[in-house]
Amino acid sequence: MDLLSSLREIEDQAWAQLQTCQSEEDLSRWWQTFLGRKGGLTQILRSLGSLPLDQRRTVGDKANRLKNALQEAYEERRRRIQEEALTSALAKAHVDVSLPGYPTLIGRLHPITQTLRDVLDCFRSLGFQVVEGPEVEWDYYNFEALLIPKDHPARDLWATLWIDYKRDGEMPMLLRTHTSPNQIRYMESHSPPIRIVSPGKCYRYEATDPTHEWMLTQVEVLAVDEGLSMAHLKGVLSEFAHRIFGPQRKVRFRCEYYPFVEPGMDVLIDCFQCQGQGCRTCGGSGWLEILGSGMVHPQILANVGYNPERYTGYAAGLGIERIAMLRYGIDDIRLFYQNDIRFLEQF
Ligand code: DAH
Repeated sequence: MDLLSSLREIEDQAWAQLQTCQSEEDLSRWWQTFLGRKGGLTQILRSLGSLPLDQRRTVGDKANRLKNALQEAYEERRRRIQEEALTSALAKAHVDVSLPGYPTLIGRLHPITQTLRDVLDCFRSLGFQVVEGPEVEWDYYNFEALLIPKDHPARDLWATLWIDYKRDGEMPMLLRTHTSPNQIRYMESHSPPIRIVSPGKCYRYEATDPTHEWMLTQVEVLAVDEGLSMAHLKGVLSEFAHRIFGPQRKVRFRCEYYPFVEPGMDVLIDCFQCQGQGCRTCGGSGWLEILGSGMVHPQILANVGYNPERYTGYAAGLGIERIAMLRYGIDDIRLFYQNDIRFLEQF
């Protein structure tokens, strides 16, 4: 059989068999049969040399064109087989790519953090600087230096968590019950004029109930300067109350005893539930207590080395949980730290 007719035969077979290839294995067998090193077409191309010159050109030309055409058809068929394999794999995996994805849970700030930031922003804008102090505190800063000596009945105001640690010559250690010790710490290391707010966690040995937690967040306010009076204190605290609870609130100052201030007072706002008429939220009084405050006791100023004849100061302490409860209408303080997402995602 001459080369030309073998070529034609190979051509017919190659095209016919290519159509029957259904998998990559079929295809690679087909490739070996026709285009591989020992394939039919390759054999023909190799034996061209033995032909007379005029035939060599026509057969060679035909053979090369067939080789290119088959090569191209092979690539095309391979692409199609791969595509079909992918489609059927996806179908088998039952992936519906048009289904919506899972929604991402987006975090948010805890209501106490939000309220704390608002309170600090308010004081910052009034010229106060934010400073912090330790949560584990010496008896001295938490009590003694604030004129609450050992065995003084005022200690009963703060149920204390003591640290079980004692060394000779060292004073007792505790978890601070309020942020007031930061007043002393700051005054010891700075000179007037002073305008600071000091936020932080405080701890109390407390049986929990809707208004008591063993951990709470306070912000301490302290200003010391020449000529500061009760009028400055009332001005700053009124501004604070109006910014946090709205400009329509009435603000009331009521005498109260705190050992480290003289005079001392509580600040109240008229109840926003009942507009001062008296309801469950305000216990029927029409007023809500929001913080404690007063003029820094001159003895404290003298103890930290200031001249109390020259300098006066005012101080205040507020509980962030209480402010947040009033602000958002929350009736149980324990909700803040139960970590229930249904509660937390409402803020
Ligand atoms: N430290 C007080 C408490 O925890 C709150 C307080 C009252 C702070 C009066 C003050 C103040 O700075 O002047 O109950």
